[in-house]
Amino acid sequence: MSIKTEITRLGVCLSVPFGCALLISTSITTNVGAAGEKNGSAQQQSFVTPAHSGTSSGGSQGHQQSPTTAQDPGPRVGAAIRTTGSPLSTLSPQELQFFQDGLARFVEIDSVKGGAPGEPGTGLGPTYNSNSCGSCHAQPAVGGSSPTLNPQFAAGADYGATNSMPPFLTIDGPVLEARFPYQMNSNGTVSSVPDGGVHDLFTISGRNDAPGCSMTQPSFAQMMQVKNIIFRIPTPVFGAGLIENIPDSAIYANMSNNAGLKQKLGITGHPNLSGNDGTVTRFGWKAQNKSLQIFAGEAYNVEMGVTNELFPEERSTPSGTCKPNDTPEDTTNFPASGAAINSDVVGFAIFMRFLAPPAPSMQGIPGNPSPRSIANGLVLFSQIHCDMCHTPVMQTASSSFAPALSNRNAALFSDLLVHHMGTGLADNISQGAAGPDEFRTAPLWGLGQRIFFLHDGRATPSNGGLLTAIQDHASSGSEANGVINLFTQLSDQQKQDLLNFLRSL
Ligand code: HEC
Ligand code: HEC
Repeated sequence: MSIKTEITRLGVCLSVPFGCALLISTSITTNVGAAGEKNGSAQQQSFVTPAHSGTSSGGSQGHQQSPTTAQDPGPRVGAAIRTTGSPLSTLSPQELQFFQDGLARFVEIDSVKGGAPGEPGTGLGPTYNSNSCGSCHAQPAVGGSSPTLNPQFAAGADYGATNSMPPFLTIDGPVLEARFPYQMNSNGTVSSVPDGGVHDLFTISGRNDAPGCSMTQPSFAQMMQVKNIIFRIPTPVFGAGLIENIPDSAIYANMSNNAGLKQKLGITGHPNLSGNDGTVTRFGWKAQNKSLQIFAGEAYNVEMGVTNELFPEERSTPSGTCKPNDTPEDTTNFPASGAAINSDVVGFAIFMRFLAPPAPSMQGIPGNPSPRSIANGLVLFSQIHCDMCHTPVMQTASSSFAPALSNRNAALFSDLLVHHMGTGLADNISQGAAGPDEFRTAPLWGLGQRIFFLHDGRATPSNGGLLTAIQDHASSGSEANGVINLFTQLSDQQKQDLLNFLRSL
């Protein structure tokens, strides 16, 4: 696929009248050696004010990174972001009704028995990480990723709950869920037996709607001390229905494209596979989950403690006052009709499936980078081969679920494969065929409006944001080392162009 077709598909040509002409005249050799060369565009523009220059280097991993004046412009602001969170534009009135129904369920706050003021959902706990899907999936709209202020502080103290806040949570940091890589020995040391599971931060102890229940939180401080804890932040679900509908055959075909170049760069990558039916799984940081409905069922039980038809047992084998409800707590509503007959899990899945992908835009990027710089950034993205993992576009299959999902170009910027990302990013968790240092190529659509990056949110506005996210791709054993080496060789202006382009997604 030529660069020009990719751009046309992304709609960049439509929003920038001269963008296409510029790109045609720009040299787009994909020769590895050409990557460090100036290509003559955008050189006279300056995006870095003197007050900021030189403050943006320094990744979070402590490995060598060459200083640069290039800076992450920060999340897009203003009118242009408002379409994010909209439904696909071609839904039928009935499909739209199911979308709205799912949206209402996605933002509904759950309490233990559904009786707490403003919290009509039922089934919270006995352990949980937050109390609505929408609290964690919030930025820049319902369905997104971690918001500016961490909602877990309110959720953990809600309605009389007596939780202590785990030491790793900060109010202006990302939403975090915790996993313990290994089980502990009885003497308090870390064993080599894998644990790997999510350990919920909070319990319902003390809540007004859980009288008598007493459960203790895991000792997160101890786990931090013995370095047996890792974190994950929420992934956004915009466009998730398109991702779900990309056929396995397209993923395999894309995997075999550009074999020679990938080999030269050290890029391999493979799909994660369902242990049940052998098909390609694709959701989550390690592509560990098959479908939106399975993810919804799992998240409802794991993140909120709500048992459901897909995951009908409570996780912590509670009894007595800590198990106030019969299970499953979320079910098909037999007396109802229309969208209301669905269980919450089905409603969540339909909502996510019908969410439109984020629309790229050149408007509202802080510092107002020129269209020319953004267009050049896209060229560089391919020229230094970020696109060998972050595949710009894949096509969806013909869908029997809804025409809006059929035969669409999904500009997700991911190959949906998992790659070795080296010792710097490794979290020592294995999920399915994804090993301790393997992660799904993160889809980059919607990146322009995100605050926190990488699986554990380590790249933040205060430590370089997107620039840090890119630099942290490099560490011992990472398949991205060759590409990041090319990135490092770019001029400061070229790096800036690339960052500006990423903020247009
Ligand atoms: C406590 C915060 C939190 C809550 C509440 C939460 N999630 Fe998530 N969500 C996450 C995290 C963290 C991940 C990444 C998990 C991983 O990959 O290990 C995630 C990932 C997902 C994904 C995968 C998207 C992708 O493309 O990778 C889906 C789908 C999802 N959540 C749906 C839901 C639904 C539906 C609910 C409500 C039932 C929900 N989540 C509630 C934190 C949360
Ligand atoms: C070898 C495959 C590979 C290459 C090459 C690669 N990436 Fe990535 N990228 C990944 C994976 C895997 C992740 C998720 C890593 C994690 O979260 O630990 C990721 C994450 C990201 C993120 C953070 C996204 C998020 O959701 O937090 C950004 C930004 C990014 N890549 C940009 C780039 C750019 C720009 C380039 C080229 C300079 C590049 N990547 C090259 C595989 C790759």
